[in-house]
Amino acid sequence: MSMPDFAWSKTDAQAAAAGPRARFAAAVRAGLSRRPQRTLPPQYFYDDLGSALFEAITHTPEYGLGRADERLLRLHGGEVGARLRLPLAIAELGSGNGRKTRQLLAAMDGRRAARYCPIDGSAAALARCREAVAGLAGAVVPIEAGYLEGLQTAAAARREAETMLVLFLGGSIGNLDRRAAVEMLAEMRRLLRAGDWLLLGVDLERRPERLLAAYDDAAGVTAAFNLNLLARINRELGGRIPLRAFSHVARYHAGERRVEMHLEAREAVEVVVEAAGVHDRLQAGETIWTESSYKYNREEVRGMAEAAGFACEAQWLDGEWPFAETLLRAE
Ligand code: TRP
Repeated sequence: MSMPDFAWSKTDAQAAAAGPRARFAAAVRAGLSRRPQRTLPPQYFYDDLGSALFEAITHTPEYGLGRADERLLRLHGGEVGARLRLPLAIAELGSGNGRKTRQLLAAMDGRRAARYCPIDGSAAALARCREAVAGLAGAVVPIEAGYLEGLQTAAAARREAETMLVLFLGGSIGNLDRRAAVEMLAEMRRLLRAGDWLLLGVDLERRPERLLAAYDDAAGVTAAFNLNLLARINRELGGRIPLRAFSHVARYHAGERRVEMHLEAREAVEVVVEAAGVHDRLQAGETIWTESSYKYNREEVRGMAEAAGFACEAQWLDGEWPFAETLLRAE
């Protein structure tokens, strides 16, 4: 079974029109009523608390991904900058708190960029990002939106003469299944012009034990991050989900080459979310699948980018953690 795409069914169109809370409720109802595998939509991880918990994940010794990304940006940012024609507009999908971007902008002399548009769903993350990059970029124009919606806004604001550099870092593309990842790249390509750029961070395959540790750190930060999705449903939708009845579980699916994050019921448990029309009962051991993280090899990254209309200009690998930074040019 593949991860659902969380597109709204036609019957949810009304809910979508009714605003973000109704949309959240509709997504929760749709996910929890899925069989045989219940799901919850991962884009709702990143409320302000979730963004802070994710930031904490990047400090755990087990989750080396973010540090690898940062090292590569620091080491090779200058080479990226040297290839870009000015004037330049930068847009970043999922900027988070801007710590990685700070490294890149410093290394590539981002002050030469006319604009930097961080795109994120969390207003708090955008505020921290703006602080993190202060003085390192031209005008900072945060966009609180989903990835493609935000990129569309940034692309529409771009001046005729400007070259655009899109940043999609942190391996976030791994959270889409392989087909959706290519579709996402193709969608990005459509919003760009020939000669624009995409810098793409991708987490690579390695031994399953090491992979799993990265998604189940000993201090329990990742568990808290995963459980916060249930807590958010309780907070925002008036849910009555007993968090203590659930455990965070990370599994590796060798065939799909992905880590799966689940919330597993330790005991039989009632899940009630009035605002979403959810009255459900999970048996002990049943899970709610919340996220997947697909792992790639470096050739695959190039192939997928080419299929989406990009040419691979350069690729850098980290020495400590299997992670690739790939610079792609829109063809
Ligand atoms: N989506 C990111 C990743 O796959 C962030 C992440 C880290 C994450 N740990 C997680 C998402 C645990 C869900 C659950 O690396």
